Amino acid sequence: MKSDSGAVTGADLRHIAIIMDGNGRWARKRGLARIKGHSAAEKSIHDAVEVCGELGVSYLTLYAFSTENWSRPKAEVNFIMKLLSRFISRNIDDLDRKNVKLRTTGRLTDIPDGPRRDLELAMERTSGNTGLNLILALSYGGRAELRDAFVEIAGSIASGDIVLSDVTEELISAHLYNSDVPDPDVIIRTSGEQRLSNFLLWQSAYSELVFTPILWPDFHAEQLRNALEEYRTRKRRFGGLE
Ligand code: FPP
Repeated sequence: MKSDSGAVTGADLRHIAIIMDGNGRWARKRGLARIKGHSAAEKSIHDAVEVCGELGVSYLTLYAFSTENWSRPKAEVNFIMKLLSRFISRNIDDLDRKNVKLRTTGRLTDIPDGPRRDLELAMERTSGNTGLNLILALSYGGRAELRDAFVEIAGSIASGDIVLSDVTEELISAHLYNSDVPDPDVIIRTSGEQRLSNFLLWQSAYSELVFTPILWPDFHAEQLRNALEEYRTRKRRFGGLE
């Protein structure tokens, strides 16, 4: 369904997922240190939350830190972790006021104590909110998520709680990190790269993919609306016929 104006609304778009790429290149183009690009990312995150709120989208997942990102220089990793705490302290009041529920996906236990506690407090504070679910993917990897699900399922088989024939696609989905979250309708990747980089591998089976050359710190409300317009032109058939 489309709104009268033909624009995408939350009715046909429940879950937007974004691979926020290009922070480093954005900074380098300006002769700045890479970390300045990560700092500049905050405004784009703010705009994405704003647009999702306007459209009535229920879930926004942002790929903030992958399981592979731990291999970056220690100083950059430390900076991103500090940025997480800063993002929370600067935005939590506004997010709460907007009825946003902050959540995470990934191996949160990998996150250093300070930012992890900040995140946990922010999640607790917004847990009763009923608007947009803002899901930060942190120390997230699609393969790690599937591995964790398979280990849990194997444990249930070993203990006799289930048998092999109980292992359906639905059961696997139910063992993912956030089993209540619907699969993303659209995955947007900024910066011109055209790959998923271990993001939501199971959940992306029928997601529309939108790639844009715009670097994440330049990806503001207008650019997100344009990407969603591209999504609107796609015909989703989920393997069937129209
Ligand atoms: C991709 O750009 C960005 C990352 C791997 C880190 C993303 C981090 C943030 C957006 C900030 C922290 C998050 C929150 C929620 C405060 P890149 O560094 O790979 O850029 P490049 O490809 O141009 O080098």
